[in-house]
Amino acid sequence: MSNEIDQQQLYSGPDGNSPFRGLGGLLRQNIKNLTPYSSARDEFQGEASVFLDANENAYGSPLVQAYNRYPDPMQYQVKMRLSQIKGVPARNIFLGNGSDEAIDILFRSFCNPGVDNVIIVPPTYGMYEVSANINDVKLKRVLLTEEYQLNLEGIAEAIDANTKLIFICSPNNPTGNSINRDDIETLLANFNGIVVVDEAYINYSRQKTFIQELTEYANLVVLQTLSKAWGLAGLRMGMAFASEEIIEVMNKVKPPYNINEASQTLALQALANIDQVNVWIKETLQQRDNLVLTLKDMPFVLDIYPSDANFILVKTTDANSIYNFLVERGIIVRNRSKVELCEGCLRITIGTPQENDKLIKTLQQYNA
Ligand SMILES: Cc1ncc(COP(=O)(O)O)c(C=O)c1O
Repeated sequence: MSNEIDQQQLYSGPDGNSPFRGLGGLLRQNIKNLTPYSSARDEFQGEASVFLDANENAYGSPLVQAYNRYPDPMQYQVKMRLSQIKGVPARNIFLGNGSDEAIDILFRSFCNPGVDNVIIVPPTYGMYEVSANINDVKLKRVLLTEEYQLNLEGIAEAIDANTKLIFICSPNNPTGNSINRDDIETLLANFNGIVVVDEAYINYSRQKTFIQELTEYANLVVLQTLSKAWGLAGLRMGMAFASEEIIEVMNKVKPPYNINEASQTLALQALANIDQVNVWIKETLQQRDNLVLTLKDMPFVLDIYPSDANFILVKTTDANSIYNFLVERGIIVRNRSKVELCEGCLRITIGTPQENDKLIKTLQQYNA
């Protein structure tokens, strides 16, 4: 910002009052004016037994299960169950075709292509940048510190009058650590745009979710997903939790039937099985601790960063060579060595005990 007084309004610092003034000035004009698609089933009220309104095939599907009818566009049942699990009213929940869809919808709702910008804090999840590029929205990068924490001063300097969104991933992908809660709250309290806290890995974390802060901050969007701890990456279901006002905007912008019927039905079944998920989380954390203990004594391992997620970031003497060695033996990890602040690093997802064992035995054969 060239003008210090404006800067003060946009980012008033830890002790200032929140400069957030609601969505009015943030929303794109075309979205403010948008009349959303009205689906056939939205247009009548009451009971009905004959549906000749949506040009579906009334005879059925060539399957055992019938999928010939359009699904519930608002995913009422899934949201009611999520509402119970998360302790958030259903009206504060948006469901996307993966949280990647929620990310894209935030861009499309708030960022004018070629005009507005968003801030990301690399190294972080790659889709924020891809979504920005798809939507022709300028990206401002403020690197994390050496400890993989927020550079609040750098963020304050990067914010200008066209900054609409700031993406914070916590626990962060690919570093694995949680971002200091106080720093995220400082941003929430002082930024007049929207702070998106991506909690894809929150089920593995020692930190509390930000969902409970929704009543405190009207400019908070929390992203979560069923793709990680819930073991449903193939169903494609992600969640955004936010104020009713933000959720209404996201629902207006989304494709009408963005969550298909099979995904809704299976997600509902899975959400009844929380005990199984909790057992896997416990086991994953145990496996993560074991893997860290074994890896840290290997001669080519320089550092293993603290993780609050179901993966670890491992700094090695030669990431490319180790990566290729593993690929040749059928084991795929993520080579992050070209990512700034992750030089020499491999990101390793925690597998089953058998998979982790195979990884360790294979690495023991690697000659640095
Ligand atoms: C931080 C983060 N956010 C979001 C996603 C995407 O999740 P989904 O499968 O719900 O689109 C991922 C996937 O790897 C991720 O790491």
